[in-house]
Amino acid sequence: MVKATEDTVDEIKSKLDIVDIVEEKLRLEKRGKNYVGLCPFHQEKTPSFNVSPDKQIYKCFGCGVSGDMFSFVMQSENLSFKEALNMLAKRAGVSLPEGPKRESGLEQKKEAILQLNEQAMHFYHYILTQRPEGKKALEYLESRGINSNSIENFQLGFAPNNWDSLYKAARKKGYTNENLLQAGLISERKDGSGYFDRFRNRIIFPIFDYRQRVIGFGGRILDEESKAPKYLNSPATLLFDKRKVLYGLEKALPEIRQKKQAIVAEGYTDVILVHQEGITNVVASLGTALTPQQARTVRVQAEEVIIAYDSDAAGEAATERGLDILKESGCQVKVAGFPEGLDPDSFIRSYGKKAFINILQEAQPLVEYRLQNLQNKHDLSRPEGKMLFVKELIPVLFSISNVLERDEYLKRVAEELNFSEEALRSEMKKYQKMARKAEKNGNNLVKIEQTNNILVEKLEPAEKALLSLLFVDEGVLGRVVEDMKNNDGIFNPEVEKIIKACNDLRENGKEIKFEYLRGQLEDDSLTELLADLSFEAPWEEFTGEGVLKVVDDCMLRLKIKKLSRERERVEQKLKELEKADADEGSVRSLLVEWESLKLQEQELYRSGKKEGLVNG
Ligand code: GTP
Ligand code: MN
Repeated sequence: MVKATEDTVDEIKSKLDIVDIVEEKLRLEKRGKNYVGLCPFHQEKTPSFNVSPDKQIYKCFGCGVSGDMFSFVMQSENLSFKEALNMLAKRAGVSLPEGPKRESGLEQKKEAILQLNEQAMHFYHYILTQRPEGKKALEYLESRGINSNSIENFQLGFAPNNWDSLYKAARKKGYTNENLLQAGLISERKDGSGYFDRFRNRIIFPIFDYRQRVIGFGGRILDEESKAPKYLNSPATLLFDKRKVLYGLEKALPEIRQKKQAIVAEGYTDVILVHQEGITNVVASLGTALTPQQARTVRVQAEEVIIAYDSDAAGEAATERGLDILKESGCQVKVAGFPEGLDPDSFIRSYGKKAFINILQEAQPLVEYRLQNLQNKHDLSRPEGKMLFVKELIPVLFSISNVLERDEYLKRVAEELNFSEEALRSEMKKYQKMARKAEKNGNNLVKIEQTNNILVEKLEPAEKALLSLLFVDEGVLGRVVEDMKNNDGIFNPEVEKIIKACNDLRENGKEIKFEYLRGQLEDDSLTELLADLSFEAPWEEFTGEGVLKVVDDCMLRLKIKKLSRERERVEQKLKELEKADADEGSVRSLLVEWESLKLQEQELYRSGKKEGLVNG
């Protein structure tokens, strides 16, 4: 380092405080002479990242990183020393000594993107607020309850319905095609004859990083009839990575820190409308499942996160994965329950701030929310439902890391839903054993459940339950095969193949084992499916007579399903005949068939009820 730079570094250090700089990235708490927080460089649940204001250095006792404010911004922002120097010099109001070339090529590119983004933001905002082309968009925003204050605050804009409005404006200002391409604001025509704007006829939402720099854009179509995707984001650029973005973070940070709580919504409009009502600790994940990077960004600032997704999104596999990631990062996760079909945006607009705060206050801890979902999903008055419920319950209980709390929940479920505590405990043990074994083999249970997803999703719950029971009790197979003889086509063909293969084994006096089945089934994916299903914990309480009751229940379900499939087919035929003006005779005979199917279905229900298999 040349002398001049050394002096500058010292001057910058004397004007800035490392605590302020670190605090922009993570929440710090005073402990003695130092400050501590959650390390932004490795995953941890208890703080071991120390900052010393006296020495102006930091050190993490968890992962060992240490350094001064320069190394902190270099590491946390992925900057070169020169970039860090530029950034901190600007912040400290220190001018840099003239040097031959202060910035590397990469830095210059990033700087150019930032400048261009800033210009583009002003351009779009100007069109929206000042130009006739923006009138419709402005009216649209108004109709959605977004006021002019929010339009300013979030610097919303409008991209006109032309191919090259921005392109022309930016070129006039001296930006090159390369600049525009690198910022992701234009694309090249396929035939190479020129360029066109990425955002056209869209409301523009500039996306900032936590330092208030415009790093990208989101655009919403104005014309609802359009077949184009509703939202379009900037492509990945040197600055924009949508996996890292939390929309609204730059405005939410102060309150997130102060409350130690963040509200995570899905969309741009959710953030804006909620913010507009004065609730400002809200960010959005932009529709995708939460990523580990986003989770960590939230975690280092907040202890509690309230998920505020619309009720349709909650429960989706991607959402669930995101919640797990968030929990893994050490956040206390709660889920806000909005009425069906409403997101934070529409809710707060219809019911106001007070009701919204109420919903937040009543947000359920993740575990409770999942238990509730499970209860709603399965019919606990039926053996099959009970079994499936327990199967999904165990992993949820396991996700509670505090053993005492876990036991508390187990007791509560047992009591409220009338399960034997003992049986649940033994299921937990079994699951734990499997989890350990799976871990040793280098995979985890979650992964196993995901294999063969396509096939598994095609199966009826009753089919899955039956398959997983094949290995539990020898009596199961006999019962299923017997019943199958008189009920052609009640199984998915794949399931039928598996059952037949098992039966062949049995008739040859062999045990039902994967080794044998593999030879029997040509399709490896079927054997795997069977392995996966049997690997999921079957419930111990259901053995002997108990298990046969589950089998009967499953078969009954499938018989009813089959009848209703046939009935639908007849209905379809009737519709076709009606259209074709068919003769009355054939219509009548179909109607008779329909009636008879309906009666059989009702009969099955009734008989099941008598045996206590089905309810209602
Ligand atoms: P409005 O219809 O304007 O109220 O939007 P919304 O935020 O309610 O939309 P929705 O719940 O459908 O989606 C939530 C978020 O997912 C949006 O804010 C977008 O960030 C994202 N999203 C939705 N649709 C698309 C799409 O077609 N493409 C992309 N890239 N993102 C989308
Ligand atoms: Mn919405």
